[in-house]
Amino acid sequence: MSLLEIDGLAIALPTRTGVRRLVDGVDLRVEAGEVVGLAGESGSGKTLTALSVLGLLPHGAQTGGQIRFDGRDVLALRRRELRRLRGADVAIVFQDPTTALHPMIDIGTQLTEHLRVHRGVSRKAARARAVELLGLVRLPDSARALDAFAHHFSGGMKQRIAIAIALACEPRLLIADEPTTALDVTVQAGILQLLDRLRRETGMGVVLITHDLAVMNVTADRLYVMYAGRIVEEGATRGVLDSPRHPYTRALLDALPEGDRHGRPLLPIPGEPATPEARPAGCPFHPRCVHARPECSSRVPELVTLAGGRAAACPVDPLRGDGSSVELARHRGG
Ligand SMILES: Nc1ncnc2c1ncn2[C@@H]1O[C@H](COP(=O)(O)OP(=O)(O)O)[C@@H](O)[C@H]1O
Ligand SMILES: [Mg+2]
Repeated sequence: MSLLEIDGLAIALPTRTGVRRLVDGVDLRVEAGEVVGLAGESGSGKTLTALSVLGLLPHGAQTGGQIRFDGRDVLALRRRELRRLRGADVAIVFQDPTTALHPMIDIGTQLTEHLRVHRGVSRKAARARAVELLGLVRLPDSARALDAFAHHFSGGMKQRIAIAIALACEPRLLIADEPTTALDVTVQAGILQLLDRLRRETGMGVVLITHDLAVMNVTADRLYVMYAGRIVEEGATRGVLDSPRHPYTRALLDALPEGDRHGRPLLPIPGEPATPEARPAGCPFHPRCVHARPECSSRVPELVTLAGGRAAACPVDPLRGDGSSVELARHRGG
């Protein structure tokens, strides 16, 4: 049994002009001690998928499928049980650390609130733990930082503090939603190293969400690529990035700045991401796909299992430009 098992997750939201299917049939696994990447352009459904694990979907959201955390059926939990899940098992860190930090409450109080309220820890013990947490995220001069306020810190330091607050409950799963997107590249690297070290030291599972495949390259063990509410490719990060099997993954890689593309020219993905209001028939990526064939506009490709623990939802192999190797794997039962 995996730490987190998502099977056939569907999320729909009613709007004035009808019900929008925002996430559609997502399967995802996270093991303890593993960093799992969830990648894809803005609007692909990454955040909604993450929020569903914490029971934090927008009001009125309709869900289908199953989410199991440590065997527990998350979508069936009552509000109180969900609060307990968020207080003890699953924590989330968002892109903008300022939203996670209260501007008027000192860092020490924010770090120890959870321990004092939920665990009944004494003030002194809580303070000692707060220093330890800030040490864990390598915040310099952690004892002095306890009496400081959010505005005293840079963006990168604020994100470290937000991560320390998330770690206060010793979560077994940490979801980091674009945790470095708002930070400078040099600061970004420090946060990614921190996440990597924390999962090794604590054994927690990490879901790292980002649109940036270069970030995945250095941090994620396994990668899921999402487009228009679906997983279109998955596999070990190295394999997926070295030989992408879905044209969308290939297009994301070709759009990366120099240094990550093995000398290929920079090619922005043509067109706009498919929106839930105007999702094309068939494969939602086909209007932007250089490998599209006539049948792509009518049939939604299934995620097909390939050799080596990989899967892709496209009959075309972008490395070969035809479907032969996928067909081969299918005939082998791979
Ligand atoms: N509260 C909401 N109400 C209506 N639509 C939403 C809401 N939250 C997200 N969406 C829509 O759901 C889709 C997926 O959003 P999201 O999960 O935030 O994508 P990502 O995190 O990959 O950028 C987008 O089309 C977005 O506009
Ligand atoms: Mg998002």
